[in-house]
Amino acid sequence: MKPLIVANWKMNPTTLKGAKLLFNSIKRGVKNVKNVKVVICPPFVYLPLLGGGLALGAQNVFWENKGVFTGEISPTMLKDLGCQYVIIGHSERRRYFGEIDEVINKKIKAAISAGLNPILCVGETAEEREKGNTGKALKRQLVSALKNVSSSRLRVSGLVIAYEPIWAIGSGKPCSPDEAMGAGIFLRKCLAGLYGRGVSEKISIIYGGSVSAKNAASYITQACLQGLLVGGASLEPKEFVKIVKAAVGLVDGCS
Ligand code: 13P
Repeated sequence: MKPLIVANWKMNPTTLKGAKLLFNSIKRGVKNVKNVKVVICPPFVYLPLLGGGLALGAQNVFWENKGVFTGEISPTMLKDLGCQYVIIGHSERRRYFGEIDEVINKKIKAAISAGLNPILCVGETAEEREKGNTGKALKRQLVSALKNVSSSRLRVSGLVIAYEPIWAIGSGKPCSPDEAMGAGIFLRKCLAGLYGRGVSEKISIIYGGSVSAKNAASYITQACLQGLLVGGASLEPKEFVKIVKAAVGLVDGCS
């Protein structure tokens, strides 16, 4: 599997001009990079305005395709704009917008139906980790997000799982590659339990949380994961391009 490097710009930059500048510098920087899939997830409003050249993803989506849902954006709309990916269940959406597991499950199903590749975020809080409940938290989030998603739908969905320990997000305290590897193995075991080993092995599991150019490669080579979900560092074009370049030629060591 080609490493997948996803930029989650969150609610940044604050102007269209800034967004275009950032997009174009990343595009220039990764122009000659081969064998790495780069996906940019800007705020919704910039999606149709950045121009081509890099794959796009959204940071959220609603679960219906149209109708009386003021303020929402549908999977069909994203697909129509050329989005390939959509981040679903990010911990910031769970925390600030009350997204519960049932909502995330609806969004996953809607995204798959529209032909978008969902990037499902799962991760434990600091408290869950301290109490030794990481596995329990990850399994609950994974199983409920994929409820009633059949094996045949999953196989064509292009689903990506992003392991984002909440305590590592924006904290400057990245998860160690060993711990990320443990979570990755556990998540893949859960997927194998749900869908069988064959299907589970085709799903990319990526890491997010204080990723930098310095630690980027370790999550692929040491933690055996298939890519990265990058927040803060994706707003600094030089740093993000270094992260992408760090992934060139890497394949996870577990396969
Ligand atoms: P940081 O890379 O800023 O820690 O954010 C990670 C994240 O939330 C990506 O979705």
